[in-house]
Amino acid sequence: MAHQWSGLINEYRERLPFSDNDPVVTLHEGGTPLVYARALSELVHADVYVKVEGANPTGSFKDRGMTTAISQVKQTNTQIVACASTGNTSASAAAYAVAAGLECAVVLPAGKIAAGKLAQAIVHGAKLVAVDGNFDDCLNIVRELTSSYPVALVNSVNPYRLQGQKTAAFEVVDALGDAPDIHVLPVGNAGNISAYWMGYNEYAGKTTAASIDDSACSPSPVSTKVPQMWGIQAWGAAPFVLGHPVAEPETVATAIRIGNPASWDYAQAAQSDSNGWIDRVTDEEILSAQALLAAQVGIFVEPASAASIAGLIKAANEGKVPEGKTIVCTVTGNGLKDTATALGNAPVDFEPIAPTVDAAVNALGL
Ligand code: F0G
Repeated sequence: MAHQWSGLINEYRERLPFSDNDPVVTLHEGGTPLVYARALSELVHADVYVKVEGANPTGSFKDRGMTTAISQVKQTNTQIVACASTGNTSASAAAYAVAAGLECAVVLPAGKIAAGKLAQAIVHGAKLVAVDGNFDDCLNIVRELTSSYPVALVNSVNPYRLQGQKTAAFEVVDALGDAPDIHVLPVGNAGNISAYWMGYNEYAGKTTAASIDDSACSPSPVSTKVPQMWGIQAWGAAPFVLGHPVAEPETVATAIRIGNPASWDYAQAAQSDSNGWIDRVTDEEILSAQALLAAQVGIFVEPASAASIAGLIKAANEGKVPEGKTIVCTVTGNGLKDTATALGNAPVDFEPIAPTVDAAVNALGL
């Protein structure tokens, strides 16, 4: 029988802080497609692959960290998990809380969550609180709340989150046979870039500052190298590029509308230790990269995810993409989460035609 992907804790247990008898809460996350993107490869003169994290059970990479964070909570007596979120973390936390039989509380910036993500938290039965403030305010509230009440914090400051997220780097190496030369991904709260860097290093037999478990590297090395990490922020929410927190972050890519990233030091280390960089792209560049990926590659991602593609194209335009290298871009979330932004002003009310083949042929200009 064909191998059925069993979720990332089961697939990568020897490199995760879980032993054989630990409870596992899984929706069979991970095992996402790594798709060769011909149109992008031709555009930037390199071999470009897209890691499609929108294919996870709740439609974003957050499920990787949630299976590990929530499974760890199941080892304790805590009955409630909580997170601050720009939408995807809350969607994932709410779903995994259901799978675990736990309660979930989410604290969100009012009016700044894409409709699909809000719907997910609601249908999974999370308790929602909308704050008149941004993500950074929400994270401060949840951090204090979880330190004073019997509630487990499942934002990426919980080290189990990064442990799960690092497995995306394992999958890339498993698919390509070695690490790519360059890995490009969007940066918001900066957990994901830190997690990928940890994963790539562990597969190469090294640890990083973010590693919590040295034994994760003890199995023999799988890859011979680690990639350069290129992080991409939105223009109006680019604290790493500016070198200081941004008080009022603003971008169409609401998922990365973050001014004071929690994993600041780990992300800085990923950037400098890998000889990479963190750059920023405008909202226009993000939206045109989103459109290009949909129309020329066949992958529909949410705006924040398109930041990685926009950053790669920008680097190519500036002559910074070395020819012929292998490049992986993570696209972090599914386009269906935020159809309003993708459609913009495009007309969606069509004049109905008569229910005949002739009328359809006519209307389609065949
Ligand atoms: N892409 C998407 C689709 C996201 O939802 C996020 C973060 C990021 C990129 C950035 O990842 O924070 O690890 O640097 N979303 C969080 C949330 C903040 O609440 O869903 P990061």
